[in-house]
Amino acid sequence: MAIEKVGVVGCGLMGSGIAQVAAQGGCTVVVREVSQQVIDKGLQSIDKNLQRMVDKGTLTSDARDQARARLRGSTSLEDLKGCDLIIEAIIEQLPAKKELWTALDSLCGPATIFCSNTSSLSITEMATFTKRPDRFLGLHFFNPVPVMKLVEVIRTIATDAKVYEEMVAFAGKVGKTPVRTSDRTGFIVNRLLVPYLLDAVRALEEGVASVADIDNSMKLGCGHPMGPLTLLDFVGIDTTVYIADIMFNEFKEKRFAAPPLLKRLALAGWNGRKAGRGFYDYSDPANPKPQQLT
Ligand code: CAA
Repeated sequence: MAIEKVGVVGCGLMGSGIAQVAAQGGCTVVVREVSQQVIDKGLQSIDKNLQRMVDKGTLTSDARDQARARLRGSTSLEDLKGCDLIIEAIIEQLPAKKELWTALDSLCGPATIFCSNTSSLSITEMATFTKRPDRFLGLHFFNPVPVMKLVEVIRTIATDAKVYEEMVAFAGKVGKTPVRTSDRTGFIVNRLLVPYLLDAVRALEEGVASVADIDNSMKLGCGHPMGPLTLLDFVGIDTTVYIADIMFNEFKEKRFAAPPLLKRLALAGWNGRKAGRGFYDYSDPANPKPQQLT
């Protein structure tokens, strides 16, 4: 089955990026949010990203206009009726996902494929909210979606093999490199990334080095685009604590346990770049200053 019409639920950071790459990949896209204000903000960010590509010469203005014409926002779930594929990128809370998937399952025809962009919740559990566990899987994109080349394609024990291959092909169609993985908490990337990020916080707590020197070590010594503490601020401290807690709960391994300093930052609301401070102070966003935290 060719995926032509895509519904994206959630027009935040991830949802707007997914809607953008799906439209650029030639799909007709409806992106749904609960408020028009969030849709407007998401569409503005898409316009900005597409324009940036035109300015850099990596996208023609014709291709930009065509992608934009294929994409529209809506506040009504009904507008997702008739989609070949629904990708969910809403808040990482199971009750909210349950309510959404139950409603979509009644609304959409039996052929529609359902995918969640969750980074840490169980795809298998979400599939049980519907009568189509064979057509339910995970498609995990990375932030910033228009830039990061990877998509994790996640199968459960109930996912139909043909549907799975269709989603692997879809990831390629939207310009990404798919990797195949199964429904184990954290999948591939977060299983490796989260313990590394938490270890960087432990190193800071233990006085191994300063915030700036830990980040510079991994940037300049290993060629990472961002140091781990900058990346924590980028992903969000609250988001990382949330993912780490789920992984620790699943595996009961110390490497997934959020260190006290990370929890204190989250408790204080110093959740990184979006909050204006985390491991760095973003009062001047172009020139973040490392904080003295230990
Ligand atoms: N949206 C769209 N494009 C963006 C962007 C955004 N938010 N931010 C940067 N870009 C583009 C820029 O336009 C630029 O494009 P060109 O190469 O065509 O010039 C390119 O990305 C590089 O940007 P900059 O030169 O401004 O800055 P940079 O070199 O520091 O790159 C970065 C920025 C791409 C974010 C880079 O620092 C990076 O790759 N960081 C690591 C990001 C990462 O690890 N993401 C995964 C997080 S984990 C996750 O998402 C999953 C989870 O479950 C938690």
